[in-house]
Amino acid sequence: MGQIIACANQKGGVGKTTTVVNLSTYLALAGDTVLVIDLDPQGNTTSGFGLDRSEIEHSIYEAIIEDAAVADLVVATEIPGLSIVPSSISLAGAEVELAPLPQRERRLSRILADLAGTYDYILLDCPPSLGLLTVNALTAADAVVIPIQCEYYALEGLSQLIATINLVRNHLNPELAIKGVVLTMFDPRTNLSSEVDAEVRKHLGSAVFDTIIPRSVRLSEAPSYGLPIALYRPDSKGAEAYAALAAELRERDGRPAPVARSVSIPAGRKAAEQNAAPEVGPR
Ligand SMILES: Nc1ncnc2c1ncn2[C@@H]1O[C@H](COP(=O)(O)OP(=O)(O)O)[C@@H](O)[C@H]1O
Ligand SMILES: [Mg+2]
Repeated sequence: MGQIIACANQKGGVGKTTTVVNLSTYLALAGDTVLVIDLDPQGNTTSGFGLDRSEIEHSIYEAIIEDAAVADLVVATEIPGLSIVPSSISLAGAEVELAPLPQRERRLSRILADLAGTYDYILLDCPPSLGLLTVNALTAADAVVIPIQCEYYALEGLSQLIATINLVRNHLNPELAIKGVVLTMFDPRTNLSSEVDAEVRKHLGSAVFDTIIPRSVRLSEAPSYGLPIALYRPDSKGAEAYAALAAELRERDGRPAPVARSVSIPAGRKAAEQNAAPEVGPR
């Protein structure tokens, strides 16, 4: 049976999209069939896979609001086994358009039922709010992954997110589990990062993934080339970290360690790769 995982945190810029793009890539490279659904009107996941947003004809909006069949909206990526349902700017209106609809919190859940058994993992990238799109994601999901940025106000807002998860559990999706909290943008040179690490583990214990995602210049550059880190800089620290996160997630699911697969950079992208500046600071 496949598993649906929502990546959620109402704070923007904490690493949701980076986590969805790279975690999904390493799951696919480990041999899983993976579908990513970009629920953020900003569409950073869509462009992060190199899809040109101006050329996208169909988006998840059409399924959520217009009852299109989701299978018709799926687009292949350059990574074998990994597909995406893109976002579009029309999703920005979906929060308002969803409001008067019957079963408005369950639209995505109903849509995804059509895909049952088709994928090992479906990852949902949520917008930075606790609005109806995020509630739809939490209602459709089996589990949630919460990225937390290693910064001063790291835990601020977390109680609100947990309260929303509990509301969804009580009223819409009793089985919703917390898959794990992942610390992102960790900078080993600062005391603050280590303090946040200790604080988050004190409060959330084993819910926190052992794997920590470091701050990495390569991770922040990769989206501008439309490449997941596995294709952009597979030897970088950020790549190693997301590969490890995928392995840890699979381990939590009782699945064997990923089989290493060679990754080739698609022709035409190589120039961008070669022109990239050498990485400074933490790899
Ligand atoms: N580990 C990291 N190291 C460096 N930059 C990162 C890292 N994770 C994310 N970023 C950058 O931080 C910004 C916000 O990340 P993003 O994944 O888009 O967050 P969200 O989806 O939560 O808004 C992006 O510019 C992204 O490239
Ligand atoms: Mg995002």
